[in-house]
Amino acid sequence: MPSVSKNDTMESLPRKAKQRYFFATAVIMFLSAALALDTLYLRPGALSAGQQVLAGLLLLLGWFVQASLGGTHRYYVEMIRNGCSPPPSFPNDPFGVRFLLKAAGHIKTNTLLAAWSDLFRTLGHTLKHRMFPGPGDTIMTDEPDNVRAVLSTRFDDWDLPELRIKAFLPVLGHYSIFTSNGDAWRRARSALRPAFVRDQVADLRCLDRHVAKLIEALPRDGSPVDLQAMFSRLTTDTISDFMFGRSTDILGNAPEDGLRFGRCFDVCMQKIANRARLGWLSMLLRDRELDECTTFMNAYVEKYVAEVKAEQGEKSEEERERKRYMFLNELLSTGESDEAIRDHLMSIFTAGRDTTTSVLSYLFFELSRRPNVVAAIRREIKGLNLENERELPNWESLRSMKYLNWAVKEALRLNPPVAANAREAVRDTILPTGGGPDGKSPIFVAKGTLVRYVPWALHRRKDIYGDDADEFRPERWETLRTTFEYVPFNAGPRICIGQQFALTQLAFVTFRLLQAFEKIERKDDRPPIQKFGINTSMLYGCWVSMTPA
Ligand code: HEM
Repeated sequence: MPSVSKNDTMESLPRKAKQRYFFATAVIMFLSAALALDTLYLRPGALSAGQQVLAGLLLLLGWFVQASLGGTHRYYVEMIRNGCSPPPSFPNDPFGVRFLLKAAGHIKTNTLLAAWSDLFRTLGHTLKHRMFPGPGDTIMTDEPDNVRAVLSTRFDDWDLPELRIKAFLPVLGHYSIFTSNGDAWRRARSALRPAFVRDQVADLRCLDRHVAKLIEALPRDGSPVDLQAMFSRLTTDTISDFMFGRSTDILGNAPEDGLRFGRCFDVCMQKIANRARLGWLSMLLRDRELDECTTFMNAYVEKYVAEVKAEQGEKSEEERERKRYMFLNELLSTGESDEAIRDHLMSIFTAGRDTTTSVLSYLFFELSRRPNVVAAIRREIKGLNLENERELPNWESLRSMKYLNWAVKEALRLNPPVAANAREAVRDTILPTGGGPDGKSPIFVAKGTLVRYVPWALHRRKDIYGDDADEFRPERWETLRTTFEYVPFNAGPRICIGQQFALTQLAFVTFRLLQAFEKIERKDDRPPIQKFGINTSMLYGCWVSMTPA
């Protein structure tokens, strides 16, 4: 999608693009003919160094004209045929160098999400830019109607981007739901689905065992603790318990391999994020640490798979009951290959651990500076009239705690762990809005174009959420009804499968912690910076002190 100047009219665009295309082609043909004449008649023999350079330049130029100017011409013809107009573009940046440098600067200062938000506010809620060295345009949007089209109404026109798949492959493997599109994705999703509709998603007893260990590990004398680090251990333990029926037990007496699994996982996530950001070149280089970590993690998971398989012959009633509620057992019953099962397990671990940690950390950061919200949730807990501290709330009563659930929703609004996401057009398609001078015309999107949608910016739009959009205010959910304006779990056919599991865990952990502690105070003078990796996290952690109830 090329740039449009003020003097261009819709009708003149394809004509001008065609002129540029034919002019550039004519120049290349002329230079090629001159080179051929020179080599064959004027200075016959092998190509001189100068001629070789010229030939190389001509090849490059030919590729550029085909990929860029030829594409532009075809783009405009199709755009007009489909009644579309182009969106605004990032200014004065025909090759995407300025965009790249700015993005690199914002990544360094952890201000990329805020910078994108500003771009949407100033240029329009859907815009396009180039990113050096890629030859094509990327579209960026925080427009609910466009998010709806990509995730739902025109779902079949969009795939996970190839680059992202390549970045994830070494860790998640070929069968993973996060590295597949089309039929392979459908197969992965239907293999995983049954495990998520079981009662185990709401198995509070299992969660409670781990939260109890967390509470035990938290200081009760007011000394500061980094809740983000503690939540990361908790979610490692809960997600492994959910998958294997036994936990890494990092909050308890973790064996060395459980601890190493957690460490390796951290290393891999960091490296995947870097690879996805740096692009194709980074993937050509071998990374020994990444290789070692993935080898160890694969062996760790394979060991569990083998153990559970070996146990399958056991006949005791109790054992059968336990197995029924184990994710891995459910997976084994699908008849998938061992390799596919390993990839699925790694995917669930990836999907479920850092996302939940991210929301809990952000929520408790907000709670640590909002005693009124803590008090409101504690009032709700008391209102349940549980017999004693250890009694479990049932799932329904947990879901009925309005204020607690509003607080969780609000944390997911201001800190969606998947803060930005992308899809690639697998065929020519249309985004319903964002084009033309008023930003309301549909936009034609050529096959191969990347669209980046940014929930972090969308969730903070003042024209949708009001002037206090940047503020943490759970009460807003009393009246607020949203569809594609609120997409922390994505939407459409690829909506998060673990949504219920995550929401239950978020509500339950908050419930238990606020039952055990009446005051949470922030213990960090540094600014609360959100870091943007594969998932968001708090750059300096979430340092608080807690007063027991
Ligand atoms: C607060 C916690 C969570 C958030 C915010 C979240 C968010 C998301 C988002 C945005 C996606 C879409 C990714 C994409 O298509 O590009 C996704 C997909 C997915 N999530 Fe979650 N997630 C959370 C927790 C979990 C948990 C706990 C599990 C599993 C136990 C899980 C399993 C999955 C799976 C399997 C997918 C892939 C769905 C597909 O591609 O069809 N998620 N999640």
